[in-house]
Amino acid sequence: MKALILCGGSGTRLRPITHTMAKQLVPIANKPVLFYGLEAIKEAGVEDVGIVVGETAKEIIQAVGDGSPWGLRVEYIHQEQPLGLAHAVLTAEDYLGTDEFVMYLGDNLIKDGIKGLVDEFRQNKPNSQILLARVPEPQRFGVAELAGGKVVRLVEKPEKPASDLALVGVYMFDGNIMDACKAIKPSSRGELEITDAIQWLIDQGRVVDPHIIGGWWKDTGRLDDMLEANRIMLETMEPRVEGHVDSESRTEGMVVIEKGAEVICSTIRGPAIIGEGTKIVNSYVGPYTSIYFDVTITGSEIEHSIILEKSSVTDIPGRIEDSLIGQNVEVGRSPLKPNAYRFMLGDNSRVGIL
Ligand code: G1P
Repeated sequence: MKALILCGGSGTRLRPITHTMAKQLVPIANKPVLFYGLEAIKEAGVEDVGIVVGETAKEIIQAVGDGSPWGLRVEYIHQEQPLGLAHAVLTAEDYLGTDEFVMYLGDNLIKDGIKGLVDEFRQNKPNSQILLARVPEPQRFGVAELAGGKVVRLVEKPEKPASDLALVGVYMFDGNIMDACKAIKPSSRGELEITDAIQWLIDQGRVVDPHIIGGWWKDTGRLDDMLEANRIMLETMEPRVEGHVDSESRTEGMVVIEKGAEVICSTIRGPAIIGEGTKIVNSYVGPYTSIYFDVTITGSEIEHSIILEKSSVTDIPGRIEDSLIGQNVEVGRSPLKPNAYRFMLGDNSRVGIL
């Protein structure tokens, strides 16, 4: 069995962060989303992984390499244009051949992994098995209708969902899926939808089994989803202090301080993680905050937020909350006269001031 991870897509819902980075590499609890997927695939006993890459190919390849740190053999498949998930499968035809495979959307995070799904597929040998979760807003996803324990109908982002069972971004297939992807036509959004390809399998009388997950999962394509994913993953971590916390500072609850990090005259209230080489001085870092590497926080308060590498937050009078701050960002006070807000913000940025 192989794995196919999809890392194309342009991440429009996470702009401006995704103007400069792949959405699959945005860190959740200081680990790129994609790495959780690689770990889950390895844990399920699959070691040959094809990663479909698009315009962010270079960074993905740089981050994952040949996959050896995870005990995986990774190859890359270039998709010229993001024309849909079923198009990605066709692009990978030479790599997949007629093998069985697990397809994993690189921005999906499944807290309890995928071992249960993969084991069930191996045992029952249906033509396809789809991972489903009950969600409050099914119209945002592919939606499944079940009858007698089988999947009978799938609709991509329906206006009036027939159930609350959303397609999670992990799918099991045998070789039949290639014929399905070749048979279907582009949807109204101009994409070859995997949802339609699976419906084609059903229409041809193939067996499509559901696997409903009870645990938590998230498609991390939006800011709120990233912050929620960050909360959930921080809660699963063990506290660890490898950096320096001075005697004037306090850490409370689940706190991870990575090596080379320094906490001076500050309070860190977990769950929170402070990355390598990051400095927290005269500041408060509150629950559900992940601060990546080489960041400096001075004289400020931050909570329920994610800060990416090499950024700084200096002397901000109000508490920063619910924020995602990108790489190399400076948030500080403006010493110049006249007194004024001074911004240099990328396209699609959002600022909320008091
Ligand atoms: C895709 C699939 C959808 C599925 C979702 C899960 O949606 O088309 O059926 O429910 O992933 O993350 P997209 O993220 O392309 O809008």
